[in-house]
Amino acid sequence: MSKSIQDILIQESLSREDVICLLKANEEETRLIFEKAAQVKTKFVGNKVYFRGLIEFSNICSKNCYYCGIRSGNSNMTHYELPADEVLEAAKYAYEDGYGSLVIQAGEISNKSFVDKITHLLKEIKTMSKGKLGITLSLGEQSEETLKTWFEAGAHRYLIRIEASDRDLYSKLHPNNKVHNYDFRIESLKLLRKIGYQVGTGVMIGLPFQTIENLAEDLLFMKGLDIDMCGMGPYIEHEDTPLYQYKDQLMSKQERFDLSLKMVAILRIIMKDINIAATTAMQTLDDAGREKAIKVGANVIMPNLTPLKYRDSYLLYEDKPNLDEEAAECKKSLEERIKSIGGTIGYDEWGDSEHFQQRIKK
Ligand code: 5AD
Ligand code: SF4
Repeated sequence: MSKSIQDILIQESLSREDVICLLKANEEETRLIFEKAAQVKTKFVGNKVYFRGLIEFSNICSKNCYYCGIRSGNSNMTHYELPADEVLEAAKYAYEDGYGSLVIQAGEISNKSFVDKITHLLKEIKTMSKGKLGITLSLGEQSEETLKTWFEAGAHRYLIRIEASDRDLYSKLHPNNKVHNYDFRIESLKLLRKIGYQVGTGVMIGLPFQTIENLAEDLLFMKGLDIDMCGMGPYIEHEDTPLYQYKDQLMSKQERFDLSLKMVAILRIIMKDINIAATTAMQTLDDAGREKAIKVGANVIMPNLTPLKYRDSYLLYEDKPNLDEEAAECKKSLEERIKSIGGTIGYDEWGDSEHFQQRIKK
């Protein structure tokens, strides 16, 4: 007789088959998974939600990922890079409003001028905030030297999503060339850890060609890498990308959303003390998507602080929300929404991953 969901949820560690079983759970069983994930979250990381003010520094990218709206091959977009004073203004806003941390994200560029600009900005932000603003970078694969320079300049967390941990699937989502090398991406994640960063990764959920088995392996991949943070969410098609041709083979958006929630909950169950983001992609498919993710395990939200005039140029996928919402308004409604689900906000705190704190003690 096969195991019940209850049997699986009381186990200390979960096998690949157990995770597959959870991912295939029906509605009633899923409620049990969500309950368990909420309990684990309360016990291991508490009910605080941390804000990271997101600054989308530039939409210029040297890569050509088949799913992404800002890929280099998309000529149907306007390129931008924020001037330093606008980055600092957004950082100041975050600092004065008690956000505690920033995420600086951009397409992947590695030339000297870009690297120097980021180094300079990191130093400026640290000075402006008297060292109080935490800084996460999400700037793709970079050389060891660059990653060290940025770490020394004040960045202490770094996100590189593996996007799909299955090598074959990865190769269907990216051009097969040196710039989009699966092994190099994994090496980059290990390098970040060696340098001393808190390391984050993540995947997209509901991609063309992706199976439930792939997703179970994604979760176990993150566990195997012993990551400190995760940001994952549904894949959302974008018209100006090669993967758009498979749009009729996808799960419905509702199914992709539901599966993403399940992924968040299961990750919380198997990696009890990491930081998990309630991502914008989840909010794109459901207005209350981020709150729903917080209820079942997420503890980080990244409100967008990119100046409004640039936002419609950072379109990774269709229907990306918040294009017309001012940061202040956005924050107020978020605060209310979080309170309504029993969360509190960790104002003025870095909100480092508990998992990281524990692993550096070892
Ligand atoms: N749907 C969902 N997420 C996407 N990303 C890029 N394109 C899409 C898409 N079409 C995500 C990737 C990337 C991050 C910046 O945005 O996971 O790492
Ligand atoms: Fe560039 Fe990242 Fe988009 Fe790939 S997913 S094209 S690396 S911004």
